[in-house]
Amino acid sequence: MCLQVFQFYYIQTLTLRIWLEGYVEGMTHCPTSTSLFTGRKTILNVLEDYFIKDLLSEDAGRRKIFLLHGLGGAGKTQCALEFARKFNTSFTDICFIIAESEDSIKASYYDIAMRHASMSVQGWESGFKWFKTHKENWLIIMDNADNAQLNLEIHRS
Ligand SMILES: Nc1ncnc2c1ncn2[C@@H]1O[C@H](COP(=O)(O)OP(=O)(O)O)[C@@H](O)[C@H]1O
Ligand SMILES: [Mg+2]
Repeated sequence: MCLQVFQFYYIQTLTLRIWLEGYVEGMTHCPTSTSLFTGRKTILNVLEDYFIKDLLSEDAGRRKIFLLHGLGGAGKTQCALEFARKFNTSFTDICFIIAESEDSIKASYYDIAMRHASMSVQGWESGFKWFKTHKENWLIIMDNADNAQLNLEIHRS
C-alpha cells in the first residue's frame, strides 16, 4: 500500500518534472540584492512612487506593471531586487520568476503553487490561479524577459 502510494507520487512528480523543464523547487524565492548595492536612488524613488505610495491611494488594488529595460549588466535585476528588499513589508508575497522561456515561466508558476500548500496543485496553472484569487499586495519580478517573441501575457490571461 505504502509502496503503491510512493510509486504513484514518484510517477506524478516525474511527469511534472519532465513537463516543466528547468523546474527547481523554491525557484521563485526572491534572492536578495547584492550587499555592495549602491546608488540608484532615482529609479528606486520612481518605483516607490509607482507601487508603494499608490497602495495608499484610491488606485489601490489595481494591477500595475513597470518595465525596467536597458543593456545587459546595467543593473536592472539588482534594482528590482533592492526595491523588493527595501519594501518587502509592503507586500504580502514576493515572487521571482525567471522569464527567459515559456518553460521557465510555467515552472515558476508551478513552484508558486507548491509554495501555497493549502491549494490543490494541478500543474503550473494552479500557481497562476493563486494570483488571480488572492487580491493582496503581491509583487512579481519577471527577470530576464529578453525574448521579445515570448508572450509574457501568459500571466494575465
Ligand atoms: N546598484 C548597484 N550597486 C552595486 N553593484 C551593482 C549595482 N547594480 C548592478 N551591480 C553589479 O552589476 C552586476 C550586473 O547587474 P544586473 O542587475 O544583473 O544587470 P542586468 O540585470 O541589467 O543585466 C551585478 O551582479 C552586480 O554585481
Ligand atoms: Mg538581469
